[in-house]
Amino acid sequence: MRILIVAAMDENRLIGNDGRLPWPFLPNDHAHVQRLVKGRKTIMGRKSYDTPDRIWSDAGNIVMTSQLNYRVDPGFEVVHSMEEAFDRYKDEDEVVVLGGAQIYAETIPRASVLYLTLIHGTYEGDAYFPDFLGFELTAQEDHPADDRHAVAYSFQTWERG
Ligand SMILES: NC(=O)c1ccc[n+]([C@@H]2O[C@H](COP(=O)([O-])OP(=O)(O)OC[C@H]3O[C@@H](n4cnc5c(N)ncnc54)[C@H](OP(=O)(O)O)[C@@H]3O)[C@@H](O)[C@H]2O)c1
Repeated sequence: MRILIVAAMDENRLIGNDGRLPWPFLPNDHAHVQRLVKGRKTIMGRKSYDTPDRIWSDAGNIVMTSQLNYRVDPGFEVVHSMEEAFDRYKDEDEVVVLGGAQIYAETIPRASVLYLTLIHGTYEGDAYFPDFLGFELTAQEDHPADDRHAVAYSFQTWERG
């Protein structure tokens, strides 16, 4: 099973602020993430599930929580450990990890590819993407700010070297 991590971060690797994304909504990034999750099952932390910015896949989604009676919407299932998540998905070729900070830190040692949206700015916040030493930038697509996007951003692909 290949683990693909999908995340957006600012120039300081910031990914979240008080449970929300730190930057204004970027429709192209949203569409980019939707393309990456299409047809693939996902893993997310309970805090990322429980946010208005929640991203999910029609193929199925795991929510990680230590809470034994945590209830989730249709299309989501709860697990209580990373081992349990990987076991549920053991027959999948590729699985997408959707965050947040805690889940990225727990899965990056096993990740093959990082699909990162680099937001070209610095914001206030409290959740950060982990170091990703050992990955090489293999593709980058730059987008300037425009009428619908308040800040420039780049879609990057990082692969384990
Ligand atoms: N920019 C992006 O691409 C992006 C993507 C996703 C999220 N975010 C942001 O990231 C922030 C949330 O990140 P976060 O680190 O605070 O939370 P998180 O990683 O989304 O969720 C953490 C929660 O997941 C559960 N969990 C984690 N590891 C577990 C394990 N091994 N076993 C069982 N449960 C486990 C725990 O839930 P319980 O507390 O219920 O036990 C824990 O509190 C938000 O600001 C969000 O907007 C940004």
